[in-house]
Amino acid sequence: MHMESLHFIFFLSSVFIILTHYNGVTCISNNNNNGNLPILSFEEGYSHLFGDNNLIVLRDGKSVHLSLDERTGSGFVSQDLYQHGYFSASIKLPADYTAGVVVAFYMSNGDIFEKNHDEIDFEFLGNIRGKEWRIQTNIYGNGSTNVGREERYGLWFDPTDDFHQYSILWTHTHIIFYVDDVAIREIKRTESMGGDFPSKPMTLYATIWDASDWATNGGKYKVNYKYAPYIAEFSNFVLHGCTVDPVEFTSLKCENGIPTGITPSQRTKMESFRKKHMQYSYCYDKRRYKTPPSECVINPKEAERLKRFDPVTFGSGRGHHHAKSHRRSRFVSI
Ligand SMILES: *[C@@H]1O[C@H](CO)[C@@H](O)[C@H](O)[C@H]1NC(C)=O
Repeated sequence: MHMESLHFIFFLSSVFIILTHYNGVTCISNNNNNGNLPILSFEEGYSHLFGDNNLIVLRDGKSVHLSLDERTGSGFVSQDLYQHGYFSASIKLPADYTAGVVVAFYMSNGDIFEKNHDEIDFEFLGNIRGKEWRIQTNIYGNGSTNVGREERYGLWFDPTDDFHQYSILWTHTHIIFYVDDVAIREIKRTESMGGDFPSKPMTLYATIWDASDWATNGGKYKVNYKYAPYIAEFSNFVLHGCTVDPVEFTSLKCENGIPTGITPSQRTKMESFRKKHMQYSYCYDKRRYKTPPSECVINPKEAERLKRFDPVTFGSGRGHHHAKSHRRSRFVSI
């Protein structure tokens, strides 16, 4: 498996706000049920970000097609800025040959905090025909782009066959990624992580883009526009959090019923998912981290299992990671 560093430069605006202090908003809720949260139409929650006519809102107003063709990718962005909450979309990925195509559903404030942004990512990494899509999760906090915390997973279904729900729960102390109703990753805020835990208000994004310009493997896995347009479908938008005034950075309103964390039965499911489907974790990437970042809990059995998926990481030292992008640095393995 060959790993490449991708740099995605993404200029949204030139707003530049320097804040030395941000006092977080407290959201209190005892409801753990993610199933009953209101579903928004596209117009209620999101705005067009880029890609002209490659973003199509379907007639029901609740589904969106984002496409990538020779001209451009496309994307949308939430109208509101959030400090914590539960954010979800159902996504159906493009089928067949999708090498070099990346679909992302993520939170970021890179347009506001150019030098010390936060980010929480779901990224879907396209593949050559016959191989599965993989998903990657990652976070950055306060500009920690030199410490990627990527994990990659296979899925227990084909994400091009149908819609599946991908969700991010972000609280003051935890970040949880869900696929359908399965929690797949929990990031606990630890003292030693310092500013690396996302803590400033962010907006939601969904994008499809051509990652082949950043891949350096001889053009072998470039996006092939013979198969374009690549269409990612989105629906079931949930934006259930605490909104923040984009100018004053004061809290506006917290929705009721934001999930607070993970239940014991979800935890059991999560552990079994990770045993079966996790293919890469930064915690075991000795090539990048001689000493794993402080929050890592190393499990020798897990290390042994992950070695199978990525002999490069554990073995020959071929390839090279560099995360020098000030904006978005992407590690994609194709
Ligand atoms: C975040 O980054 C800014 C600018 O680099 C720094 O002044 C601040 O102390 C950092 N905050 C935390 C919590 O690490």
